[in-house]
Amino acid sequence: MSEQTVINDMISIERIGDIALICIDNPPVNATGQAVRQGLLTAITDLNAAAQVRAIAIYAAGRTFVAGADIKEFGKPFVDPSLPDVLDAIEASALPVISVLHGTALGGGFELALATHARVGIKGLRIGLPEVNLGLLPGAGGTQRLPRLAGVAFTLDMALSGKMVPGADALAAGAIDQLVEGAPRDVALSAAQQVLDGALKTRPTGSLNVVADAALLEQTADKLRMTQPHLYSPHKIVEAVGAATLPLSQGLQIERQAFMDCMNTPQRAGLIHAFFGERATSNIPEAKGDARPLDRIGVIGGGTMGSGIATACLLAGLPVQMIEVAQDGLDRGMATVARNLEGAVKRGKMTEAARDAALSSLSGSLQMQDLSDVDLVIEAAFESMDVKRQIFTQLDQVCKEGAILASNTSYLNIDEIAACTNRPQDVLGLHFFSPAHVMRLLEIVQGADTAPDVLATGFLLAKRLKKVGVLAQVCDGFVGNRILAFFSKAVGYMVLDGASPAQVDQALEGFGMAMGLHKVFDLAGLDIDWAERKRQAAGRDSSERYSGLHLDRICEQGWFGRKTGKGLYLYDGKHPTPNPDALRIIDDVRAELGIEPKEFTAEEIVDRYLTAMIIEATRVVADGTAKRPVDVDMAYLFGYGFPRFRGGPLHEADQIGASALVERIEGYAKEDPHFWQVPPLLREMASTGKTFADLNH
Ligand code: 3HC
Repeated sequence: MSEQTVINDMISIERIGDIALICIDNPPVNATGQAVRQGLLTAITDLNAAAQVRAIAIYAAGRTFVAGADIKEFGKPFVDPSLPDVLDAIEASALPVISVLHGTALGGGFELALATHARVGIKGLRIGLPEVNLGLLPGAGGTQRLPRLAGVAFTLDMALSGKMVPGADALAAGAIDQLVEGAPRDVALSAAQQVLDGALKTRPTGSLNVVADAALLEQTADKLRMTQPHLYSPHKIVEAVGAATLPLSQGLQIERQAFMDCMNTPQRAGLIHAFFGERATSNIPEAKGDARPLDRIGVIGGGTMGSGIATACLLAGLPVQMIEVAQDGLDRGMATVARNLEGAVKRGKMTEAARDAALSSLSGSLQMQDLSDVDLVIEAAFESMDVKRQIFTQLDQVCKEGAILASNTSYLNIDEIAACTNRPQDVLGLHFFSPAHVMRLLEIVQGADTAPDVLATGFLLAKRLKKVGVLAQVCDGFVGNRILAFFSKAVGYMVLDGASPAQVDQALEGFGMAMGLHKVFDLAGLDIDWAERKRQAAGRDSSERYSGLHLDRICEQGWFGRKTGKGLYLYDGKHPTPNPDALRIIDDVRAELGIEPKEFTAEEIVDRYLTAMIIEATRVVADGTAKRPVDVDMAYLFGYGFPRFRGGPLHEADQIGASALVERIEGYAKEDPHFWQVPPLLREMASTGKTFADLNH
């Protein structure tokens, strides 16, 4: 006989004899929002006052135990009770309280478990302290209680990496007490019974002592200062874990203060924007419709992009048919895929057996005819409209009805490509970023005639490849490269006016970019943009100042960057060093143009770079090339190395404010009114007070 008590919508109690089971039911991930916190507190208090209860077990309904605090509440006014207070009450409970964990016990969810008197995991469980990914630290006792159970080293590793640890490892480390099979409610009942029988020992975690490890803490702090100078919360994590040797209440106070400090940083807001943004890009009707089958993929081209795309598909278990025009190109492409997969094995991303299986599902051919049975073809051939036209005309003839024909073009017009076929509804752009098996951005470019199920299949592919699919409309460069082309001009002007490429790169890396722009140019190959500049030369607006003369001159020497050993940098040592010959060319170009070089501070470099980025990003949103500001932000985080802790260019724009940006642009416009123009949308935002965040809804 059991008796049910509903505490609120999310918390209920089931009484079976002298055992009480508390069930948390807050889909989708049982986050500890206010109602869950209040319900748990009430349940623990009531049960401690109730007659005949001798043991309490907490479990969760649905697919997972508690995945943490409710992130949606962060940044809003706080409503009591706090999670630390609830967990303190659980730990202080006179009745033994155990937790039963299934799925993922993360952040505040795992901290809830740490505050109970014993933890039973269900096979398949993974535990984690992912707060660091949100610019936070475990703020409900994680930095204090986990060291008491599993040691300082284990805690630092979990809290600084944010990784998920398999249940078996958690058990071995002492973070949980048992790992069993069964349904959460049944395991909760039997575990509570074991407590009553004395078979499962319980004790408050706070009663245990921590083995101090000052050397490890110091070493970790030193390393973080070198490796993560931009981030705030990792340093605070070390500080808080260092306090675990103090009495629990003191340690908890230090942790609480550190948590609040992190909560008040813009980094926390940026990282949480990134968390929700990553999910928002596919949370649109275009991504949700019925998709077409996606069982076999064709890739045209065995170059860097084609092999990278083939690798990405194989890693996701999708068989690939690669097509090249000549045997040596095909051999090179197949060898690159094999090398990429080998790299995945070395990095622990796949087993040798999985690699062998992937390789056996890759086939190569010189015949387009061999694409007759694929569901999707991704063309990654030379970036020329003539080449694309030829390919798509042939694809139209050989591919089966309903097959999707995609181009990986980074700039060219998808509608023009689609017009070579009799099935423009089956054509779209799938723009990958190099290396395609690593970079997570996938621009999904909608042509004028692209069918809804073709678009939905693009998003399905992104999901299968674990990429972030961002919808883009047709224009020169789509979302990402269009913005890149614009701010690259601002950078070109700064170099012509006196900044050196290395100085620009250093400033941008100081801002947090993964790599300075000139290093990116050298990596991609200076010849790529050179070809693009030549393509655009005829249509160039003669009143616009040309920003690429120095780069053209460097390319004329045959210096294309990393692949030729020389570009804006030299690549003959361990690290790239500025190429003195390129600097001489830049000097010559300045002299030729009659420019008197001036000094730029790092701050000015970043301001001009970012402002130009924001200008074009605003236009991309205003004309609908990107659906929402958040899509631009995610494109930049996942494809262009924009620092995640800054949330993205338009999230950053909100931090600066539209009025300040307008003022800044008007200041720059005094020297170049053609380039520095205030986008009407930004001006409107400055007058109405609307933010880019407002435009996301
Ligand atoms: N708060 C609020 N919403 C959350 C959430 C959370 N902690 N975790 C996930 N969600 C939402 C997602 O936004 C998504 O919403 P949507 O359907 O509207 O897009 C939905 O739950 C499902 O999430 P996913 O799409 O990510 O589902 P998956 O199955 O792929 O992944 C997960 C599940 C592994 C739990 C993943 O969502 C995740 O990693 N969540 C974040 C966990 C986290 O960071 N916890 C720490 C929070 S901070 C904290 O606890 C502070 C404490 O120390 C005081």
